[in-house]
Amino acid sequence: MNKFKLLLSGVCLLFGLAANAENYLISTPNTTLFVEGVKGKQLNIQYYGSRIESADEVYDSGTALWQPAYPAFGLECTREPAIQVTHADGNMSLDLLFNNVEKSTEGNAQVWKFVLSDPVYPFQVKVCYKAFQDVDVIEAWTEISHSEKKPVTLYKFASTYIPLRDNKNWLSHLHGTWTAEGYLFEEELLPGIKVIKNKDGVRNGQDDNPSFMLSFGQAPSENSGAVLGATLAWSGNYSLKFDTNHSRKTSIIAGINEDASQYVLMPKEVFRTPELAITYSMEGKGGVSRNFHRWARNHKLAHGTQLRDVLLNSWEGVYLNVNQEVMNDMMSDFSKLGGELFVMDDGWFGNKYARKTDSSGLGDWEVDVEKLPQGIGALIASAKNNNIKFGIWIEPEMVNSKSELYEKHPDWIICQNNRTPEMGRGGTQLVLDLSNPKVQDFVFGIVDDLMTKYPQISYIKWDANMNLHNYGSYYLPKDKQSHLYIDYHRGLIKVLQRIQAKYPNLAMQACGGGGGRTNYGVLPYFDEFWASDNTDALQRIYIQWGVSHYYPASAIAAHVSAEKNHQSGRIVPLKYRFDVAMSGRLGMEMQPKDIPDNEKDFARKAFATYKEIRPIVQLGDQYRLISPYERQGVASLMYISEDKKDAVFFAYRIENLRCQLTPPFKMQGLDPNKKYKLEEINYIDKKLNQHEKVISGKYLMEQGVSLNLGDEYSSMIIRLKEI
Ligand code: DGJ
Repeated sequence: MNKFKLLLSGVCLLFGLAANAENYLISTPNTTLFVEGVKGKQLNIQYYGSRIESADEVYDSGTALWQPAYPAFGLECTREPAIQVTHADGNMSLDLLFNNVEKSTEGNAQVWKFVLSDPVYPFQVKVCYKAFQDVDVIEAWTEISHSEKKPVTLYKFASTYIPLRDNKNWLSHLHGTWTAEGYLFEEELLPGIKVIKNKDGVRNGQDDNPSFMLSFGQAPSENSGAVLGATLAWSGNYSLKFDTNHSRKTSIIAGINEDASQYVLMPKEVFRTPELAITYSMEGKGGVSRNFHRWARNHKLAHGTQLRDVLLNSWEGVYLNVNQEVMNDMMSDFSKLGGELFVMDDGWFGNKYARKTDSSGLGDWEVDVEKLPQGIGALIASAKNNNIKFGIWIEPEMVNSKSELYEKHPDWIICQNNRTPEMGRGGTQLVLDLSNPKVQDFVFGIVDDLMTKYPQISYIKWDANMNLHNYGSYYLPKDKQSHLYIDYHRGLIKVLQRIQAKYPNLAMQACGGGGGRTNYGVLPYFDEFWASDNTDALQRIYIQWGVSHYYPASAIAAHVSAEKNHQSGRIVPLKYRFDVAMSGRLGMEMQPKDIPDNEKDFARKAFATYKEIRPIVQLGDQYRLISPYERQGVASLMYISEDKKDAVFFAYRIENLRCQLTPPFKMQGLDPNKKYKLEEINYIDKKLNQHEKVISGKYLMEQGVSLNLGDEYSSMIIRLKEI
């Protein structure tokens, strides 16, 4: 070895980099994932953080010696692996060594596939990364395959593994329950493994969300500090593991939840794991959220760059009591308020087993001739007369045992063939087995039939009110029963892809009995999700705050509901209800005729105002200002147009205690060099002292505005325009 090589290897050892390593910098505009590959050795992750232009910029003290890109079980057995398999011959070990990298482009993104192979078995894993060039998100997944003589069983198969350099990490994640989804929880990661996983089977569920943020070196902060964010694009069971060692270094292992899901991989079959989308920001959690929002709008969400309609959903207005007259009246009343789309919710279908209660009818998707004798055609005509669009509710993955569908196809449900199925909602609900291609055709056919007969339907609310009980498939073979959790979702995605291909302009909402379908596995096929069955404006502030960490406002369906809320019994003024819903995708969830006459004018103006600010809220950058979780008595957030000329600011009183200090409302994201005119909008009595004042962006961000918000359930919206 000559002196230079000796010196180089010494330097590399010191920096923790191998001398003959190839350095791969996988970059987005502002971030880089640095992967180090030495042929015939373990593939390593050296760094993930702010963008670097050269590997030399990464200084490693040499302490982070174990940082594999995809650790396998069998040779190194003491750590939590990303993958664990049993080969055809019963051997449980796997050795994944770097071979080569395949690089390609997809749209404006660069795709890197690192090929790892076992020197003893014909077993291969491609560790894949897709780096977008217009947004700071990298999607990470794996493609697992083999050419052994017989099937190989996969027991663990993470989408990705990320060993972190930092050693004092805080986890932020969402947790909740039905009607209280998306609550924000934050904790320091201590030694041990923290696992967030779901077992709903059908949905990501109301309890958790497959997304998280890690703040490095300090407690989570909204606008500063280094934060990594991640969200798994999978609608089924998932697992997020945070493996923190004695020196508080954390490795992330994320992917499908492997519980009861061992996968029998046939020779030459490729098992593709769902993508974990990761991002990194030095602008705190807010920066991470904005990165996800941009990625969602530009690449992930259906119709992500289009504005959403203002809609009325019939559920809380009439529940199952739909009929022609009531629907017509709702459409007419809503149209007068300036609404753009009417959605007929549950209750419109079934004849032999009419949907009079929630215990019958699911599966029989023809119109109830008693309730709607003139059919859907007449409703569409009525919508047209009222100059609004028409949408409809379905729950296509489900069936009631009291239905003609169940009578015809009892073997289409999820159940073991020697047991009595456990029923869900209404005591009769069952889940259809979407691993079965015939069921997939049936589910596709529900939408296809509706759209063929009534091409004017412009929106579908797709509900899913049950989780998976009675684990078992009549369709899957005996040796592949453990594929059900996975194949259910593959079946679902196939159906959604067919719908999108045939009806590209159809808008759809993902509803999972409230917020159970809030995930990027399904969102490529949906314009939005129903964040919660809880429409209480006060509680919605917390729920919407939570989900906004990962999902853009255009996707967060937020509805103004009855004065006395049906879930909480709380009585909240109409303005407050509007002000909260206007920070997301505004809609209504009540009988519009129940709005008192003296408030109808306010409601009409509020819809008109929303239409004016809609481009900023739905397509702008979001800045969360004062968190409701900080218990300062108020909460506040704002949206800013990309050119920073227009902004909308929201403030809500969430608690009213005498002598409680209200902090100044310091804005974010404005151009410090621009001057903005402040204008209170959506008011009943104007309260903003600075109304029509011109203030610099610098002042608004450094000093903020003091607001006289008022008492309980008072709120304010301020429009800011550059002048
Ligand atoms: C649950 C949904 O979340 C509600 O909005 C409503 O659509 C009902 N299902 C209808 O059954």
